[in-house]
Amino acid sequence: MKNKKIISIALIFALMFTFASMLGMSTFAQTDENETQGIETPILISYQYLTGANLYASVQGETNAAAAYRAFADKAETEGYLAVANLFRATADAEAKHADDEWAILQSMGETERPTAETPTVGSTAQNLQTAFEGETYEYTVMYLGFLETATKEENAEAARIFRWAMKAEEVHAGNYKDVLNNLQDADYLNEKYGEVYRCVTCGEVDTERPSTCPVCGAVGKTFVEYNIKEKTPFADKGIIALIAAIVIIAIVAITFVLIKKRSK
Ligand SMILES: [Fe+2]
Ligand SMILES: [Fe+2]
Repeated sequence: MKNKKIISIALIFALMFTFASMLGMSTFAQTDENETQGIETPILISYQYLTGANLYASVQGETNAAAAYRAFADKAETEGYLAVANLFRATADAEAKHADDEWAILQSMGETERPTAETPTVGSTAQNLQTAFEGETYEYTVMYLGFLETATKEENAEAARIFRWAMKAEEVHAGNYKDVLNNLQDADYLNEKYGEVYRCVTCGEVDTERPSTCPVCGAVGKTFVEYNIKEKTPFADKGIIALIAAIVIIAIVAITFVLIKKRSK
């Protein structure tokens, strides 16, 4: 009887130990795979596939990049680099679109908590351009390259397509920033080349001229959003401004009408 009790307790302990070891092993397996790609990602054990964790990391990265570029644009403006601010704003919207697309896939996989932007560190415009260039270069040469390989291996076609487009768009962004950095003292060159830029609403490619079709995703050039230093507001926002103006005008007319009616009584 006593032996039976000891054997039962030993069996329970053995089962618990085996279960705990299995859990530990799966955690290590995911950590290793993440480390081999050189990417800092939260270890989200709930994801069946590594692409889930990669999507989470990319949403975080793109959200941070969008916030940083908006802060860099404000800084560039205060330093008098209006064309540089213009490029930063267009690229910020491209990164925000990447984050939205990646988040949509992640949401369809069941994720509910979207990462939020971390506070960016802002330096001089020259420093900010260098930071941006290095970030973009890392994204297209390391991060998205690894994510794309993994998504392809895991047969997640939707994530692979988004990663491929983002990777190619980041390469264009990196080229733009390098060019601006090399010509920062040439105001005429910057105004001429980056005073008007065009963002692909589909993939986030940022061009200095409106192309007939997007060189990254093939979208029609007409759909590109224009950003320029004469008119800082992107054309896409014009509709909202017109709507607000219409509401204000209608409100003024209505108030005037009521006041006139009251007086005439
Ligand atoms: Fe980018
Ligand atoms: Fe595109």
